[in-house]
Amino acid sequence: MDSNIKRIGVLTSGGDAPGMNAAIRAVVRAGVFYEKEVYGISRGYDGLINDEIKKLEVRSVGNILERGGTFLKSARSMDFKTPEGRKKAYENLQKRGIDALVTIGGDGTFTGANLFFQEYGIKVIGVPGTIDNDLSGTDYTIGFDTACNTAIEAIDKIRDTATSHDRLFFIEVMGRDAGFIAVNAGIGSGAVATLIPEREMTTEQLIARLNKGFKNRKLSNIVIVAEGGKSGGAIEVADKVREHFPNYDIKVTILGHLQRGGKPSSFDRLLASRLGVAAVEGLINGHSGMMAGIINQKVVYTPLESAINNTKVVDEEEFRVAKILSI
Ligand code: F6P
Repeated sequence: MDSNIKRIGVLTSGGDAPGMNAAIRAVVRAGVFYEKEVYGISRGYDGLINDEIKKLEVRSVGNILERGGTFLKSARSMDFKTPEGRKKAYENLQKRGIDALVTIGGDGTFTGANLFFQEYGIKVIGVPGTIDNDLSGTDYTIGFDTACNTAIEAIDKIRDTATSHDRLFFIEVMGRDAGFIAVNAGIGSGAVATLIPEREMTTEQLIARLNKGFKNRKLSNIVIVAEGGKSGGAIEVADKVREHFPNYDIKVTILGHLQRGGKPSSFDRLLASRLGVAAVEGLINGHSGMMAGIINQKVVYTPLESAINNTKVVDEEEFRVAKILSI
């Protein structure tokens, strides 16, 4: 039990994710509940370096639970990657007597948090907030569920027009180097094929899959392409396929940042609320240099290093289901 903690700083960093606001709210309210002062740091690590820090009260985080984005704003800080930047950040924390940090974000955020923890011994807990779902030590990251719902809703609309015109669509989804959004969207939207970075699908295999679909009189064809795919993004894959089907009308849609916005789903609000409280309780109970995650419905603390470095794999079972259902 670390009852010495008096002031907790909270920041969001890296790509924003729906549910980050719910997580900030949970950190602030749990902090106040346990009689700590909580400070909001704007613009991620840049705000820590530039001293953009202000005290948050219970009411400062009213009416944000349901909002997308992050009211603290976010950034991918280059300065925090330098020893000088981190020194400045440490001095600002010292100056304000902030003795612990909750950092909400993805692997870049945790890499920075871990360095800071190792260099300065700052007590820090990470909360996984990224649409990519690519962190080990948690079944889901905050924002993933909402992003998948957004993607599926958009793809449903594309299917309407694809069916009307007998067109083949290649739809690119986000996920950086991971295929979690793609597999989820592929199953949820009934895609004929899903291309992900973790699994190679050659152009020949894709052509064979599409030909089978044509033979089976598929009504419309949607191929989901993860942005980090081995054969390139949706534009590159569509170009290769076009060579084999010169008479077929092929279109490309890149969903892009659409997937990052919008109101968080019920799942993400619950996850963010649980993890925000878990982060504060973790700090109070003496955890540091860890990420709070949820595995099999239970809160688990995993070293930041493992959360970033242990590769989380796309579920084999889900990939198999996607293939079976694409016939
Ligand atoms: O990590 C979240 C994410 O949305 C990735 O899926 C994507 O590759 C990247 O961020 C995009 O980053 P930016 O918003 O900086 O272009």
